[in-house]
Amino acid sequence: MCGIIGYTGSRPCAPLLVEGLRRLEYRGYDSAGVAILDPSRTPTTAVTRCEGKIAALAGRLEAEPISGTTGIGHTRWATHGRPCEANAHPQRSGRVCVVHNGIIENHGKQREALRARGRSFASETDTEVIAHLIDELYDARAAEGGPVDLLEVVRAALAQLEGAYAVGVVHDEHPGTVVAARQASPLLVGLGDQDREPECFIASDVSAILEHTRTVVDLEDGDIVRIGAGGIEAHLDAAGEVVRRGKRRIDWSPLAAEKQGFKHFMLKEIFEQPRAVRDTLIGRLRSEDASPSLEFAELDARVDVRALAERHKITIVACGTSWHAALAGKYLIEQLARIPVEVDLASEFRYREPIVREGDLVLAISQSGETADTKAALQEAQRLGATGLAICNVVDSSIARLADVVLYTHAGPEISVASTKAFTTQLTMLSMLAIHLGKQSGAMADARAQALLEGLREMPVAIDAVLGVQAAIKIIARRWVGARDWLYLGRGLSFPVALEGALKLKEISYVHAEGYASGEMKHGPIALIDDSVPVVVLALEGPGYHKTLANLEEVRSRGGKIIAVATAGDDAIGDVADDVILVPKVDAFLQPILASVPLQLLAYHVADLKGTDVDQPRNLAKSVTVE
Ligand code: F6R
Repeated sequence: MCGIIGYTGSRPCAPLLVEGLRRLEYRGYDSAGVAILDPSRTPTTAVTRCEGKIAALAGRLEAEPISGTTGIGHTRWATHGRPCEANAHPQRSGRVCVVHNGIIENHGKQREALRARGRSFASETDTEVIAHLIDELYDARAAEGGPVDLLEVVRAALAQLEGAYAVGVVHDEHPGTVVAARQASPLLVGLGDQDREPECFIASDVSAILEHTRTVVDLEDGDIVRIGAGGIEAHLDAAGEVVRRGKRRIDWSPLAAEKQGFKHFMLKEIFEQPRAVRDTLIGRLRSEDASPSLEFAELDARVDVRALAERHKITIVACGTSWHAALAGKYLIEQLARIPVEVDLASEFRYREPIVREGDLVLAISQSGETADTKAALQEAQRLGATGLAICNVVDSSIARLADVVLYTHAGPEISVASTKAFTTQLTMLSMLAIHLGKQSGAMADARAQALLEGLREMPVAIDAVLGVQAAIKIIARRWVGARDWLYLGRGLSFPVALEGALKLKEISYVHAEGYASGEMKHGPIALIDDSVPVVVLALEGPGYHKTLANLEEVRSRGGKIIAVATAGDDAIGDVADDVILVPKVDAFLQPILASVPLQLLAYHVADLKGTDVDQPRNLAKSVTVE
């Protein structure tokens, strides 16, 4: 997830772009850059980029100012290529500069084809492919003679690309013009007040431009626009037809705008999950053809999966929420790939003289990639001879650099201390990994793998449906906001979801919550049950459902109050549960991704009703870099 801004008007745009990028920094912050058109220079477009936060870019522009009143800017959250100046945006090719947010799925093929046509690349980014394609097409059109419409050229280039993008494009020959387009990544146009100042903006979100305008036009998927100081000069939809989209007036404060109107970052991030899961799938799940397939080439090059299944094991190390994902990973990998998996709390692992052998695989899971215990556990396992695999969200983080192979989730920056979208994207990656290992180890039939991949492909839509029942979850939260103790129960793959649900509630609302495997209830926690203790039960259709119903009866007969998360269409659950949250039916192996979402919403609303500091709960830090 990166941030884009663009400006054309009559004011010097460098300070304006930098300020806008500062406001977008929450979308990513590993490198930044601007491209500004100044017709008095040759070449017209000057580019300044640097690694690090926007402050570094601002410093560089102060030392070497660029004048000009049209430009584009970008703050990056690396997806393809590590964070460094060469990979920062804008990416230039010839007379074209491009900023991009999203992932181009077929960039590899396009890169090869461009190379074959004599183009050479200066970065590892998928974005440079876009710049080359536009530059190439532009030159071809220019060679035909007559004026070239930059919008038409950008449109023709984008037609060759698959994936998600929001792009901003400038060209040396078109001072005063920015072309912008979107496909599955956010982008809007900000309309200046023409009576005051002829100017126009593009931005990933309104927070970047709120200081200058409150009138925006949201682009829809497939839209492309050409803007000039006077506003939108041309606007085409996906079919290439001229469209006029309605204007929207924004009343938010700048901080509310960063939160996109959500009250807290946590809620915003919960609602970002359809996008985050989709982005995590993109790049691994090839879905151009009727039957989807997976791509884990870097893993295949390092790991002999058959040998792993026959003679070795996988050890997963992680902390906190990532440890809950690890527990789900064990269920997934053992059942789908038949490879033995151990899961360790990273803080315990290296002090218990773990048995790890040459040829084993260690998988470190960490959102931040900086957690000291997880890093140390990975190092220890590698020292003992294991190959190090990591699932991280932050590109080029310490753990990512240490690992032999990294699988990146694409959740985007997570600002709320309580992890939400990082967890569901970790589960998404683990599901894909388990399916891939299952196919490689020979444990999984093709048809089964296909069915699961279809289910993953549909997951963003299913999550959207769960987000749609937020109001009902808030009512449940209101009913139970006074409870001092909560119990969360789940069995099988729902057990880690129960643990995570309890952790979410306790960390942000400061009430006591315990997660248990349903079958363990009668071995102790049942003593806690009375009518003041809400028991949240994951009672999803699938193996173990009937046993869970029996557990519910045990709770009920002791006066316990039940909040059940159940599968849509379950008519029986209402007879035993006091409150029911229904989620769409998905394959049992994919339920953890979906079932986590209502528990996040429940925890959020309890905490919000209590009035705690939801985004920065007391005593907690986002990344724990000490033991
Ligand atoms: C809880 C939470 C923490 C982290 C843990 C590990 O909401 O976020 O429990 O999961 O500190 O952090 P990472 O995944 O960055 O290693």
